[in-house]
Amino acid sequence: MTKTLLDVRDLSRRFDVSQPWLNRKIEGTGKRFVNAVTEVSFSVNQGETFALVGESGSGKSTIAKLIVGLLKPSHGDIVFDGISLKDGLKGAKARALRRRFQMIFQDPLASLNPRWRVVDIVAEPLRVFERGMSNRDQRLRVGELLTLVGLAPEDGVKFPHQFSGGQRQRIAIARALAANPDFIVCDEPTSALDVSVQAQILNLMKDLQKEFGLTYVFISHNLQVVRHMANDIGVLYLGRLAEFAEAGALFDAPKHPYTRMLLDAVPDIEMTGRRRKQVEGEIPSPIDPPSGCAFHPRCPFANDRCKRDVPLVINGVACHAVEEGRIG
Ligand SMILES: Nc1ncnc2c1ncn2[C@@H]1O[C@H](COP(=O)(O)OP(=O)(O)OP(=O)(O)O)[C@@H](O)[C@H]1O
Ligand code: SF4
Ligand SMILES: [Mg+2]
Repeated sequence: MTKTLLDVRDLSRRFDVSQPWLNRKIEGTGKRFVNAVTEVSFSVNQGETFALVGESGSGKSTIAKLIVGLLKPSHGDIVFDGISLKDGLKGAKARALRRRFQMIFQDPLASLNPRWRVVDIVAEPLRVFERGMSNRDQRLRVGELLTLVGLAPEDGVKFPHQFSGGQRQRIAIARALAANPDFIVCDEPTSALDVSVQAQILNLMKDLQKEFGLTYVFISHNLQVVRHMANDIGVLYLGRLAEFAEAGALFDAPKHPYTRMLLDAVPDIEMTGRRRKQVEGEIPSPIDPPSGCAFHPRCPFANDRCKRDVPLVINGVACHAVEEGRIG
């Protein structure tokens, strides 16, 4: 039976991007906010992968940081294994929960301390969560972890700059696994890598998921990357979920016009290798988003209602035209 491990409920986060007070007074302007994430809800089953896909600025990293507690929500709640994280956790409960969460970032070079040897980088979670562990046991465990991700125990003496991008991401994965987490948020873990290396890292992550029963939230700007990773996919547009569905259904029968546009923009390998159709229009700014459905300036199905009313997510799709049966 599937069990919900993570439940994201009505999650919103805005950032104050106002000018300093004096500038506002002189220019006669008010405060300005970016609604980076607005009323996003989804749930993730244990042992499965939920992928979040969207263009740059759609709120992907903000959601990742909210889930792992690096940011606080402005509104809404995140429930992990039945425990609400809304008001923060303290003491032993927080510690017990924190060891179950890890995050992997896009740029492993930035997330790995360049002055530390790999053995110390990978052992860091052990020092935090396994305080009683001897140095010798730590080293043995790091050796095991490096082997697990396709590196060698001897690589532990090296520094991050001595590895390729793909190998550095393997190191980041080894570190993430050190404290035996069951839930990992992966924020574009392969976006900085060559396509062939990307595939190797994705396969490694899938193997590790199977072996340890890991649950992933996997973030990407590329729908094709998540196709073979994800059980369910959520498509974000300007901080809101446009559509979410089981991965096969999303690819076979996308409903939201934006999802359709993303899939139409996929390179057509069988024909010419060129894009079939570009994603039309630019993504607007979340500081001053379009009224109603934020996608309306780019949408071929937009009407007056779309310009006026924000569509609610109904049966996994936030679109008036789908709701009205104007498009199938
Ligand atoms: N700390 C912050 N202060 C102000 N604005 C922020 C902050 N963090 C994010 N934003 C804004 O929130 C919006 C969403 O940003 P976010 O980084 O979550 O997008 P993203 O989908 O991860 O984009 P990318 O694909 O470029 O990584 C953007 O408009 C961004 O400028
Ligand atoms: S609500 Fe209207 S503008 Fe938005 S995606 Fe649907 S049809 Fe297009
Ligand atoms: Mg990001």
